[in-house]
Amino acid sequence: MTAGAQGTAEDGFRGWREAAREALYGPDGFYRRPGAGPAGHFRTSVHASPLYARAVARLLCRVDEALGGPPALDFVDMAAGRGELVTGVLGALPADVSARVRPYAVELAARPPGLDDRIVWRDEPPEGVTGLLFANEWLDNVPVDVAEADASGTPRYVLVRADGAERLGHPVAGPDADWLERWWPLPPEEGLRAEIGLPRDRAWTAAVGTLTRGAAVAVDYAHTAGARPGRHGRTPPAVPGEQRPGRLRPRPRRGRGGRGADRAGRPR
Ligand SMILES: C[S@@+](CC[C@H](N)C(=O)[O-])C[C@H]1O[C@@H](n2cnc3c(N)ncnc32)[C@H](O)[C@@H]1O
Repeated sequence: MTAGAQGTAEDGFRGWREAAREALYGPDGFYRRPGAGPAGHFRTSVHASPLYARAVARLLCRVDEALGGPPALDFVDMAAGRGELVTGVLGALPADVSARVRPYAVELAARPPGLDDRIVWRDEPPEGVTGLLFANEWLDNVPVDVAEADASGTPRYVLVRADGAERLGHPVAGPDADWLERWWPLPPEEGLRAEIGLPRDRAWTAAVGTLTRGAAVAVDYAHTAGARPGRHGRTPPAVPGEQRPGRLRPRPRRGRGGRGADRAGRPR
């Protein structure tokens, strides 16, 4: 149970983090079902045009240059879907770089058939990466809890049932409350909502921490603190596991390699 899952088993309510985790990554989760994967349901920049993989291949070459052309150059496609990006990058690299590249696809879904044998398929990023870790539309898929201000202005966990019905649970507490206070303080106005992005920050920090030398880039949906969704009007109700078109364009989030550098993924 997550801190947000305060509902009783009998009434079926639980925190959004737990509900989304099961809906997306449970045994019959949206992302784990066999088939075409994300590309069968929506398009990301990866599917939209081969130009995207070519641009990432160019970035990998620049990282290679900055690293002085190491004998083994890692490319980690973090949250790889069906391996479309890593496949495109491999096809776009110049021969001298291609000969040294170690391509990884990190994905919770199973390895799809017919993938290039060189691609190592794993469910966690490898440790000690020298090269580029690239996460396209991963972080918006990290399950998080949702908080809502109650009538007294206290932020409480929002609990949800499988049919989308919601109610409020316990007040947000502990590290979740610290995160909200720092990054997404909720004005004491009943009904205002915030995502508690702590698991997302931890996921990114851990991924960037696998780098020994190189760069990490996340491309994802984002907003600035002054333009919080939900601040000026309520977001539409959601149902666990349903995908809705995003309203904001994905933005890059960078982390530089080298232990000791500022590699923490901070919300914008
Ligand atoms: C929106 S899709 C993006 C797929 C691909 N990167 C693209 O841009 O087309 C998100 C993917 O992230 C994967 N994912 C989510 N959390 C993950 C994790 N902790 N480790 C590996 N893959 C993860 C999901 O299984 C899903 O395939």
